[in-house]
Amino acid sequence: MIILGIETTCDETGVGIVEDGRKVLANVVSSSVNLYKKYKGVVPEVAAREQVRVIIPVIEEACQVSNVKCQDVDAIAVAYGPGLIGSLLAGVEMAKTLALVWNKPLVPVSHLIGHVYANWLVAEQVSSVSRVSQVPRAIKRKAFDTPTFPLVALIVSGGHTDLILMTEHGKYKWLGGTRDDAAGEAFDKVARLLGLGYPGGPEIERMAREFTVNSRQSTVELPRPMIDSADFDFSFSGLKTAVANLVHGSRLTVDRRAEIAHEFQEAIVDVLVTKTVHAAKKFDAKSIVVGGGVAANELLRSQFSVLSAQSSIPVFFPPKELAVDNGAMIATAAFYNFKPKTVEELQAQPGLYF
Ligand code: KG4
Ligand code: ZN
Repeated sequence: MIILGIETTCDETGVGIVEDGRKVLANVVSSSVNLYKKYKGVVPEVAAREQVRVIIPVIEEACQVSNVKCQDVDAIAVAYGPGLIGSLLAGVEMAKTLALVWNKPLVPVSHLIGHVYANWLVAEQVSSVSRVSQVPRAIKRKAFDTPTFPLVALIVSGGHTDLILMTEHGKYKWLGGTRDDAAGEAFDKVARLLGLGYPGGPEIERMAREFTVNSRQSTVELPRPMIDSADFDFSFSGLKTAVANLVHGSRLTVDRRAEIAHEFQEAIVDVLVTKTVHAAKKFDAKSIVVGGGVAANELLRSQFSVLSAQSSIPVFFPPKELAVDNGAMIATAAFYNFKPKTVEELQAQPGLYF
């Protein structure tokens, strides 16, 4: 079965074409991030207008890359929430139109569940960033096993930080989540405090690497909020305030900023990894899967690998290009949770969870 997946929950316009839930035939992403670089954050109105402008070219490009005639796909999947209402509408209305015109099943997918299912994708094939946006990136990945149930999933994105237990496809139990800022949001806000650009995660990672390269002993100590709490909740706003207190009123050298970025990254990764492994042990998980934009972070990936080796629980990450928002993850989630809805039934839901 070949599914075309559409993802427009935030600032990206992603269209993926996936065969049998695993094989990525195309994954095209157009980002409007450059349009609001100067605002250091997404401007919802600008994002939605851009999505309306580029969605048809992105769909056409995905079909071209995959060598599948658009009308020949078996179903249309779309992320219908959570997200920004204007952006969601651009994707949902497009998906409805295609389903009607081509007479295809229409499968709604939660964006968060899409991030989890990015771990089922084998992307040896083609991926590109749309010519309507910036840099092309290629994905190379060998075939790999799929995660086994029960599994614990950590979703870490710009808007969410959640731990869920999955006992089979479509069966989710929410274990905990952030009480304030999401992990990606904390990266973005701390980047801003340090005078770095948006999105903040890759910027912090780059800056922290400068400190690591110089390999001095860190003199900055930041808290690891809720690392030992008995629940599976998180809190990152205090960590952000701790950075704000270090930054406040002083003109920081580049070295000092790199040191703060390094310690911030260590602190947030410590908390995420420790609590996820704790949950996996408690629920006898057979695997851990990580999804969402923050899953692209190298330190998070390496720390998880170390702890998973120690605890003998395999950990899964999507290739970095599939960790951030994309249409392929929506297509694969639809394959494993195939519940079509009519055009009348499907509505964008900005506040949706799972
Ligand atoms: O999943 P995503 O692409 O969009 C949302 O659903 O929000 O996640 C975006 C978030 C942003 O906050 C961004 O700063 C963060 O993911 N991010 C990273 C990295 N790449 C993206 N955070 C840490 N390290 C990275 N390499
Ligand atoms: Zn996302």
